Order: sequence, then C-alpha cells, then structure tokens
Amino acid sequence: MSKNKILAASLIIISGVGLAGFSAENKHDYHFNSQDPWKAPAWVDTLKSPYHDEPLTLAQGEELFTLYCASCHGDGGYGDGAAGGALGQKPANFHDTLVKAQSDGSVFWKISTGRGNMPPFKDVFTDEQRWQLVAYIRHLGKTE
Ligand code: HEC
Repeated sequence: MSKNKILAASLIIISGVGLAGFSAENKHDYHFNSQDPWKAPAWVDTLKSPYHDEPLTLAQGEELFTLYCASCHGDGGYGDGAAGGALGQKPANFHDTLVKAQSDGSVFWKISTGRGNMPPFKDVFTDEQRWQLVAYIRHLGKTE
C-alpha cells in the first residue's frame, strides 16, 4: 500500500469509530419511554420571557412556526402536521390542557431541549426566537 492509501484507510477507520461513538451517545441521550409524560425540570418554571413586544413577537413566532414546526404540529398547532403522522410518538397538540397548564419556561425548555422525534432547537434559534415561538404557541392555544 502506498503512503496515501494507508493514510486514507486510517482516516476512514478513525471517522468510523467517531461515528459509532456519536450514535451510541445519542442513543443514550434519547433513552426514554415515550409513554412517560414529558416533564421539564422544576427550575425552568422561573424562566420568563424578557421580550414583550407584541404583536411583533407573535408575527415573528408565526413565521418561524410555519417554517419549522407546522410540518409536524400542523398549521393550527393541533399536532396534525403531515410529517407527524408517520411518527411513533405523536407531535404535541398545543390546545391540550396539559400543554396549556405548563409554565412558559417549561415550553421554552422543551423547544430548546427536544425529546425523541421532537428536535432540539437550542442551537438553531436564539433565545429571543424561542420566546417568540412560546408566545405563538400560547396564542394558538387560545384559538379554536
Ligand atoms: C419532526 C417533527 C417535529 C417538528 C419539526 C417539531 N416538533 Fe415539537 N414535538 C414533536 C413530537 C413528536 C413531540 C412529542 C415529544 C414527546 O412527548 O416525547 C413534540 C413536542 C413538542 C412540545 C412539548 C409539548 C409538551 O408539553 O409535551 C413543544 C412545546 C413543541 N414540540 C414545540 C415545537 C416547536 C416550537 C417546533 C418548531 C420550532 C417543533 N415543536 C417542531 C415533533 C416535532
């Protein structure tokens, strides 16, 4: 084998090990029983949105929701989006009392952290954008 081939082969092996490690880690993170109700830790209840610029907050929340969330949660937030139908765990319905009874901090934390098929959005959106989404989810919960 030439030097280059050896180098290429070891790179493949190294990245293979890296990937295996990565997915094992992921499996560990997402080990949960999907029947368990999703409970946020108590400390998040103290989180409050520092952004109160309605209706701007709502308009921006709606825009983000339509682009990134409606595919699973549905335009109206009933958990009936086209992509959600194929999932084992159904996307949340924001009109559900279980969601409405939660603190804003809890909803913010869940959007940030994700669970199972619900992607984590912590590194995708700024804090402000995630609070805009919380405001919009609250708004949806109030509509019929
Ligand atoms: C790929 C599908 C998918 C997308 C995209 C998605 N979600 Fe979800 N979402 C889910 C699923 C599935 C659950 C239920 C997870 C569980 O209970 O384990 C969920 C749960 C939630 C919950 C928790 C409700 C509760 O109290 O249990 C919130 C809040 C939420 N999603 C908000 C959002 C927002 C905001 C976006 C867009 C930024 C979004 N989701 C995008 C699938 C999705």
